[in-house]
Amino acid sequence: MKIETKRLILRPPRISDWQDIVEGVSDIEVSGMLAVVPHPYGKKDAIWWINEVLKKWKKKNKDDYTFFIELKSEGKVIGATGIHNINTFNSVCTTGSWINKKYWKNGYILEAKIPILDFIFNKLNLRKIETEAYVENKASQKMSKKLGFKLEGKKRRHIKCKATGKIHSEYIFGLFKKEWEKVRPELIRELEKKLK
Ligand SMILES: CC(C)(COP(=O)(O)OP(=O)(O)OC[C@H]1O[C@@H](n2cnc3c(N)ncnc32)[C@H](O)[C@@H]1OP(=O)(O)O)[C@@H](O)C(=O)NCCC(=O)NCCS
Repeated sequence: MKIETKRLILRPPRISDWQDIVEGVSDIEVSGMLAVVPHPYGKKDAIWWINEVLKKWKKKNKDDYTFFIELKSEGKVIGATGIHNINTFNSVCTTGSWINKKYWKNGYILEAKIPILDFIFNKLNLRKIETEAYVENKASQKMSKKLGFKLEGKKRRHIKCKATGKIHSEYIFGLFKKEWEKVRPELIRELEKKLK
């Protein structure tokens, strides 16, 4: 499965992506904002993760879709965005993403998330998405709010970051389809303006 946008291809991983993954994820500014990524991060870690993701892509009843984000102009993987913990009984899932620091603030995650959220609500037909961000992670919180997510609460000193060993409090955000449909047209306009 592959989703194509103007600048990006969202697709399952290939083993040959490992170097791009090491480049992106070995940066503590990236892994320090994620929960389960070790630091330092090397080839073995990347290949292990790629194989885990591939196993999930091969499952018949998928509860996880992790897309690698390939930048068309460079033929390089610059990040990943995932749909996780799909629960069809409750009709919910969680999401998470990262982008290689060199490529931050170019609108790439916004460009990737638009078709991903469409896919969740219109193809998987789920009713709600949840996402979390460390209280220190202003970029992620701002991104979630921009995508229409609403703050639902705070888990106090709830999670230990594998890369730093630090315990974080985190905010929980939720998004319903109606809330997504409300912000989507403006985000599309904004992205089109940016890509002109
Ligand atoms: C969060 C992250 C994925 C954003 O990726 P990005 O491609 O740089 O984001 P975009 O350029 O598409 O920006 C989308 C919106 O996110 C918010 N945002 C992104 N970077 C930001 C920053 N440094 N400070 C504040 N807001 C930021 C903004 O609202 C931005 O829209 P705007 O610039 O129009 O205001 C990236 O910073 C990252 O990988 N961080 C480390 C890993 C991480 O935190 N993952 C999320 C874990 S919950």
